[in-house]
Amino acid sequence: MTSKPLFRVLSPAAGADAKAQAEATIQIWFNDQALSVPAGRSVAAALLAAGVQRFRATPVSGAPRAPYCMMGACFECLVEIDGMPSRQSCLVAVQDGMRIHSQEGARDLPPLSDMNPLENAHGR
Ligand code: FES
Repeated sequence: MTSKPLFRVLSPAAGADAKAQAEATIQIWFNDQALSVPAGRSVAAALLAAGVQRFRATPVSGAPRAPYCMMGACFECLVEIDGMPSRQSCLVAVQDGMRIHSQEGARDLPPLSDMNPLENAHGR
């Protein structure tokens, strides 16, 4: 296993582009920490741009994970968004005021008393 990080924080663009990007920021919360992130991107892209490097922990070993494919294939980017667990952050557009939490291990299933016996845990 390599110890070299897979991702790095990008430096902001220079000149007029930087000014335009700075004007198009929104505020979100990640693990109860306020972050100012670029608007118009996926949650994963916005969090990576803000320097977040750990999005979830694996259910078995607790190893840290972060987005890898950025196109919905690897599921390494799972987070809880506005109370909904197991969201693929690379496929969700970031919105002002979102409350995002890292996903620690396996998600909890809803209590059996809250479930319709004809639906599965995903409400389908
Ligand atoms: S980064 Fe691979 S599914 Fe989101």
